Order: sequence, then C-alpha cells, then structure tokens
Amino acid sequence: MDNQNIIDYLNKNLSAERYKHTICCAELAVELAQIYGADKEKAYKAGLLHDAAKELSVDKMREHIKNNDMQVDIYMENNSALLHAYASAAMAKAMFDVEDAEILNAITYHTTGKENMTLLEKIIFIADATDESRTYDKKIEQWRDLAKKDINAAILKVLDFNIVKVVNRGFVLHENTVKARNYLVINNGK
Ligand SMILES: [Fe+2]
Ligand SMILES: [Fe+2]
Repeated sequence: MDNQNIIDYLNKNLSAERYKHTICCAELAVELAQIYGADKEKAYKAGLLHDAAKELSVDKMREHIKNNDMQVDIYMENNSALLHAYASAAMAKAMFDVEDAEILNAITYHTTGKENMTLLEKIIFIADATDESRTYDKKIEQWRDLAKKDINAAILKVLDFNIVKVVNRGFVLHENTVKARNYLVINNGK
C-alpha cells in the first residue's frame, strides 16, 4: 500500500485541510474494506484520489474530463461540487495510471452516489462523508459508527441529509443521488 507518489502529489497540491480529509477518508475506507471484505488496496487508492481535483478551477476540471473522453450531463457541467468527482477519476487515470474500473467508478460516484452501488463505491461514498476530519454536522460520528455495522443504513442517512441540504440551498439535485436513495429504500437498506 505504498502510493507514495500519490501522497506526495496530494500533500503538495491540496490545502492542509483537504489533504487531512483525503488521508482520513482513505484510512476509514481501508477499515470499512476490512469489515466488509472489500479489496483494501483499492479502497486506499480510491480514498486517496477521490478529491484530487477538488481544488482546481472548473475549467481545469473540464479539461481533465475532456482529455479522458468522459461524458458529463447538463446538470453537472457547471457545477464544481459535482464535476470534481469526475475530474478526480480522470486525474487518477491520466496522472497515476489507475486503470481499474472499480477504483475509477468509486471516485466518480463519491459525491452523487448512484443506483445499485458496488461495495467499493459504497465504501468510498460513506468514508468521504463521515471520516474523522469531517465537521459539517453533529451526527457524523453516529453515521461513521453505523457505517461499520450497516453500511447501507449509514449511506441512506447521508443521502437523505444531502438531498435536504441541496434542496434547501437551491442547488441542483442530481438524479444519481435520487436513484441511489430510492434503490436503498426499495431494497430495504440491503
Ligand atoms: Fe469530493
Ligand atoms: Fe472528499
């Protein structure tokens, strides 16, 4: 689990706060991978790289996405909060030779979630939302503990929270988030 080139890049190019979040997210992702029997190496790498593009300009994000022939829809193209996930996957591929589709998808869908997420996608989604560096809500610790017992229930809590927040703030609610939530509801959190 070396990834020293990735860690050096992140340390140099991200703010101290974002770097800390990235490391905490990757470590929580490994812990969850251990609990649920996912690939720990993939969880660590996806956790490290999930926000690689977060502090770039929207133009730079678009450039990374375009160079990797990725498609984004009209709900995403001007939205840095959503675009950074796609751009981070593009960077993982172009700059760090990540070819593994599971890792790339876990990075791509870490913000919106998606319908019927894979285990690795779930791990990165919830690790990003609840790692120890996070302070956006007082329930985070509770969600983090829940994630270690019932990852689907924890994801549902975070999706519900995000949907209400996004609507209250008047931001675009991406359909992948609605589908992620409804899929978990229909499948009774399983
Ligand atoms: Fe992110
Ligand atoms: Fe993040």
